[in-house]
Amino acid sequence: MLPSFPHADNSFSTPESLAELGVVLRQARGDDIPWLMELYRESRAEELAPIPWSDDAKRSFLDSQFELQHRHFVSMFPFGRFLIIESAGQPVGRLYLSNEDPELVADICITQRARNKGYGSRLLQAVIDAANARRVNVELHVLPRNTSAIRLYERLGFAFAEDQGSHLLMRRLADQTGAGRRVDPR
Ligand SMILES: CC(C)(COP(=O)(O)OP(=O)(O)OC[C@H]1O[C@@H](n2cnc3c(N)ncnc32)[C@H](O)[C@@H]1OP(=O)(O)O)[C@@H](O)C(=O)NCCC(=O)NCCS
Repeated sequence: MLPSFPHADNSFSTPESLAELGVVLRQARGDDIPWLMELYRESRAEELAPIPWSDDAKRSFLDSQFELQHRHFVSMFPFGRFLIIESAGQPVGRLYLSNEDPELVADICITQRARNKGYGSRLLQAVIDAANARRVNVELHVLPRNTSAIRLYERLGFAFAEDQGSHLLMRRLADQTGAGRRVDPR
C-alpha cells in the first residue's frame, strides 16, 4: 500500500488567474492515486513508444516507477503541498511543491487534452508570486530534451543553475522587492 499524502500545510489557494478559467486546486487524496497513475503513464507513453516491450510490461514498469516516485516525494517533502488541478470538476493535472526555501516545484504535469490553455504558466506564475512574497527562490528540475517546458520556464524568468547530469536545475530568483515580476499569462 502506498503512503498517504502529508497533511502538513497543504493550503495553496487557487490563483485568481486560474479561477477565472474555471480551474481549481485542491489537496491530493489517497483516492486520487489511480488517476495520478494514469496521468503518469500518459506522461511517459511517448518516451516508451519505441521500446519493444508488450503493453503489459510497459504498464507494470510505469506503475512501479510511479510508486517509487510517490514514496520518494512524500518522504522527501513531509511539509509539501500535493495539489490536484481540476477543471469542470475533473482532474487535469498535478502540482507538487516542496513548500520550503527554496520552493522546489517537485512536479508539474497537465494531461495532454488540457495543455496549451495557459494553465501551466498561470500556475507557475502563482508559485513565483507566493515565493516572492516569502522572498524565496523557486527551483525545478527539467530533462534537457524537454525543450518546450524549458521555453516556458525561461519565459517565466527561470535560468539554468546547474547541470545535474540526467536533469538540469533551473532557478527563478526571488524579486527583492517582493512585488513579483509579472509575465503575461498565456
Ligand atoms: C509543461 C506543462 C506543465 C505546461 O503546461 P501548459 O498548461 O501546457 O502550459 P501553457 O498552456 O501555460 O503554456 C504552453 C507552453 O507549455 C509548454 N508545453 C506545451 N506542451 C508541452 C509538453 N508536451 N511538454 C512540455 N512543455 C510543453 C510550451 O512551452 C508551450 O509554449 P510554446 O507555445 O512556446 O510551445 C505541460 O505541458 C505538461 O504537463 N507537460 C508534460 C509534463 C512536463 O513536461 N512537465 C514538466 C516537467 S519539468
